[in-house]
Amino acid sequence: MSHNTYYDKHALARAKDLLADMTLSEKLGQLNQFSGEDGHISDHLRANIQSGNVSSVINEVDASVVNELQRIAVEESRLGIPLLIGRDVIHGFTTVFPIPLGQAATWCEQTIEQGARIAACEAASQGVNWTFAPMIDITRDPRWGRIAESLGEDPFLCARLGRAMVTGFQGTDLQDATSIAACAKHFAGYGYSESGRDYHFANISENELRNTVFPPFKMAADAGVATFMTSFSDLNGVPASGNKWLMDDVLRKEWGFKGFIVSDWASIEDLSVHGLTENNAQSAQLAANAGVDMEMVSRCYAQNIPALLEAGTVRHSDIDAMVTRILYLKFALGLFENPYTDSSKFPERANLEHLEAAKQAAIKSCVLLKNDAHVLPINTRLTNHIAVIGPLADDKYEQLGTWIFDGDERYSITCAEAMRAKVGNNGHIHYAKGLDTSRTFSNEGFQEAIEAAQQSEVVIMVLGEESILSGEAHCRSNIDLPGAQSDLLDEIVALGKPVVLVVMAGRPLTIGAETDKVDAVLYAWHPGTMGGSAIADLLCGDAMPSGKLPVTFPRAVGQIPLYYSQKMSGRPVTQESFVHQNDIPIRAAQTSLGMASNHLDVHFSPLYPFGFGLSYANLQYSEVMLSSQQMSAHEPLNVSVDISNESDFDTDEIVQLYIRDLVASTTRPIKELKGFRRVHVKAKSKVNVSFEITEDLLGFYGQHNTRITEAGKFYVWIATDSASGEYKEFSLVK
Ligand code: GLC
Repeated sequence: MSHNTYYDKHALARAKDLLADMTLSEKLGQLNQFSGEDGHISDHLRANIQSGNVSSVINEVDASVVNELQRIAVEESRLGIPLLIGRDVIHGFTTVFPIPLGQAATWCEQTIEQGARIAACEAASQGVNWTFAPMIDITRDPRWGRIAESLGEDPFLCARLGRAMVTGFQGTDLQDATSIAACAKHFAGYGYSESGRDYHFANISENELRNTVFPPFKMAADAGVATFMTSFSDLNGVPASGNKWLMDDVLRKEWGFKGFIVSDWASIEDLSVHGLTENNAQSAQLAANAGVDMEMVSRCYAQNIPALLEAGTVRHSDIDAMVTRILYLKFALGLFENPYTDSSKFPERANLEHLEAAKQAAIKSCVLLKNDAHVLPINTRLTNHIAVIGPLADDKYEQLGTWIFDGDERYSITCAEAMRAKVGNNGHIHYAKGLDTSRTFSNEGFQEAIEAAQQSEVVIMVLGEESILSGEAHCRSNIDLPGAQSDLLDEIVALGKPVVLVVMAGRPLTIGAETDKVDAVLYAWHPGTMGGSAIADLLCGDAMPSGKLPVTFPRAVGQIPLYYSQKMSGRPVTQESFVHQNDIPIRAAQTSLGMASNHLDVHFSPLYPFGFGLSYANLQYSEVMLSSQQMSAHEPLNVSVDISNESDFDTDEIVQLYIRDLVASTTRPIKELKGFRRVHVKAKSKVNVSFEITEDLLGFYGQHNTRITEAGKFYVWIATDSASGEYKEFSLVK
């Protein structure tokens, strides 16, 4: 579906008509986003709105203040142009859903669309009409704090989940009072920022950009996302906010994107800090000529474009195009007819329906990583004394995660609370924090935790990262459990009771040492408002774990970047060739160590692979069945498996389709996700799941950076994760 499908030609005509009436000063005013003032309206802001210098305000969410801002714009400026009210509504508004990385673990477009729809409704009730989401940066670096906001490492999965967010935020009609404009960010390459540090240099070939980084953005553009945001990062020496190839050649000319582009926060001003320009005037010129329409908060445009127009280094025609794109969205949103919000006409924020949706999303986002001896699910009728221990076990705020400006922790249900409700009067929850925070090194709380465990039949440890340890600019060089959490776990494990580890974090953590010691592991990410309730339902069998990892878990931080769709290399490592450092004989000969692509001190496999996630059911996959040994553009291939559930548990399973292109004009990944489907498999039953492989699905960008398909041999898997299953071979014939 192309962007034109969404394009409102009437709104465009109205924008052009209005443009014709505007003075230059009023046109330039439409390029400026001002920061809100925490429920106030200074004389400075009021005067700028009255003189038409303000196009958008970011970070004002008090409905009465927003309505007053709109009233000033509509009634006290010459042309009465309403404002875009922007906010980072990233994974919920008052009702907080799991962080996007957790939502990605649902592999469920419907769940993600519903969460965005609810977030849009709650935000719109306060006057927000533009969100800076979805964040669809591909990243393979869990050191980077913003992996928490991402939809994971894979372009196929990220593209479809990002599209679901766009559709959820924007609804089916942008003029609907509950619809808010979405923003695909951060274009482009931010997730490859060197060494997982934020705001940094990203060295990415065009081939990698086109095959991996661009697809989610292209799908968002095709889905009609209203706006794009430039990335802070320096892409191959040209920071995105001044990168004409990205914004104009690719986004506008090649993809036909008709919406508008907003800079990131002061990212135009940053261009001189990067060293791409000498000063704000040059930055304004570069960004305007690159096609960045609106400047977020900094004043390079306002202070320099008049002179640049005089000098002829910025063209009036470009300014007219920028202003038209911004006015178009305001007309398309219906703001000229309905600039004000009436909160009373919206459902109550954090109402029971919204909270239940957040709970269901959290249930689907948790990933069961281990369940030895079927410790889970806990039968609370038989197990009456349960310990719940850890700094994140009863913290209403920390479970919300990063980017929750408008979350309200009063609605949070923690793990401890939910477990108390679960066992009711016929059981007892023995709670201890053990550590004051996830970063505490003192062991003064250990004894209380040990005593709680000693009184219990099973122990639930809730460990991980506080929310501040992930998100923007919160990058870690070491992604172990912080503080003395691992020591606390050791003390509890030493008691010999069954231990269930629940992890709340904004990223994959290198927790191999810990997961080896416990009986079960449930990865909850930062699960949002209803996280505790979701976790308790999963641990006690009132809900079935179905989540699958959207990102690879490395064994050691030194393996990063580690991801399933890596290239083969000329010397791939095998189980046979791998020799661990501890097993190398003294004076071993130089060439005695397998001579392959691996580290000496860690096994080459991930701790947990992309797509991995256990269930309580015992699912068996048949071999892959093919409709033929070969396919062509006119004869797609049908592939299928039977999945049998031998257990007594009904369960959902996310079935994954992978392919490998064995020989091509550029080296191809050893595996690529090309389909996924959530299926329900009843106890003691079998289902057949099939996928169609079309020639287009096998396409890629080759040496000349054009999208091609090539005849030849392929492998195909249909499996429960990226490391399982046996492939079958087929050929594409031209
Ligand atoms: C931040 C982030 C961006 C966000 C914007 C507005 O610095 O990079 O994702 O939308 O500024 O808060």
